[in-house]
Parts: sequence; C-alpha cells; structure tokens
Amino acid sequence: MSKKKIKEIFIGSNNKGKLKEIADLLPKSLKIYSNLDFKIQSPVETGTTFEQNSLLKAKYFSKKTNKICMSDDSGIEIDILDKAPGVYSADWSGKKRNFNLAIRKVYREIFKKDKNWKKKKITARFICVLTIFWPSGKFITQTGKIEGRISYSKRGKNGFGYDPIFIPKRKRLTFGEMEPEKKYRIDHRSDAFKKIKRFF
Ligand code: IMP
Repeated sequence: MSKKKIKEIFIGSNNKGKLKEIADLLPKSLKIYSNLDFKIQSPVETGTTFEQNSLLKAKYFSKKTNKICMSDDSGIEIDILDKAPGVYSADWSGKKRNFNLAIRKVYREIFKKDKNWKKKKITARFICVLTIFWPSGKFITQTGKIEGRISYSKRGKNGFGYDPIFIPKRKRLTFGEMEPEKKYRIDHRSDAFKKIKRFF
C-alpha cells in the first residue's frame, strides 16, 4: 500500500449531498476533483453488496481520470423489511431521485409487514463503504455504520435522502432535524472515514 499521503483526489459521485459530506470530511489542504469538473457519467451499479458497488465506482472513476479516486456506496437497511432497501436505497427514489417517493415506499412497505408498526421500534442502520483506488490498481475499502430507528413521520429539512426518517440510537431528532455538523460527527460516512483518514 502506498505510504505517501494523498495530495489530490477525485471523488467519484454524482450525488451532490454525498459529495458535500465527503468533501467536508477531507483535510482543507487536499485538492478535490469531482464530476463538477469532469462530467463523467456514473457506472451502472451492478453489484449486490455495498462493497462491490463501492469498489466498482472507485475503480471506474480512477480508470477514467487516471487519478486516485474515492467512492462511497451507502444506503439504509431496515430490519423489518429484511434489510431493504439496502444497496437499492437510491433506486427506491425512482429515476428522478425523488426521496419523497422513496420515503412513502418505506412507510408503505413497513405497514404491509405490520399494521401496528407505530407502536414498535423499527430498527434500521445506515451503512457506508468507502473505497480509495490508486491508478496502480491498489485499493482499500472500509465500512462504517450507524444504528438507529425509523421515525413515525418525516421530520426535518436538513441533509438528503432518508435523513428525515432516521433517528440515530440514543437521540431524539432525525438526521433531517439535526445540525449538519452534528450528523457528520456520528454518521456512517464519518465512521468509515475514520478508518482511512491516515492516507490523507
Ligand atoms: P448510492 O450509494 O449512490 O447507491 O446511493 C445510496 C443512497 O442511500 C443515497 O441515494 C441515499 O438515498 C441513501 N443514503 C446514503 N447515505 C445517506 C445519508 O447519509 N442520509 C440519507 N440517505 C443516505
């Protein structure tokens, strides 16, 4: 593995919410490139696990740019739905990436499983797998998690994706209601990032 600290990196994501969160985790001295500069189409995510998709994206963007690339594959697992939507978290929002639709689908599917679900704790977790891929073909992959539960209604306007319906363990606010800095400190992305930050 390269012992040299990374000085510049391409972040392989077309999701603006994620891009911002990843950029905020990285040291300010690092030169960050993203699709805001390069306009490369995202690859088709053919993997069936977060690890496969994270590696597939980092490798693809590194080959396209000839730069060290970092990609994130992430999503939410809801236990009562047998861990769905999982790697299909983005797909549940439809082609237009409308997360109101995705959240409605979550509530519909939970209700189908258990009509009394609002009397219960619906456990869930966010998972994030980060991969750094070097043009030489070397790579490193790390997983981060945050456990929590699904709120009984959608709350808050901060963040993105499923943030308005996820309440982290031992907290009362959803990620959508929390100050972004508070979310970043505890979320799945920062948990994964802690494990790779020695490279920067
Ligand atoms: P992908 O990794 O591009 O396949 O997309 C993962 C999807 O999971 C995103 O589009 C979001 O909907 C969801 N997701 C991942 N991380 C978060 C988060 O921190 N908050 C809310 N939703 C998230």
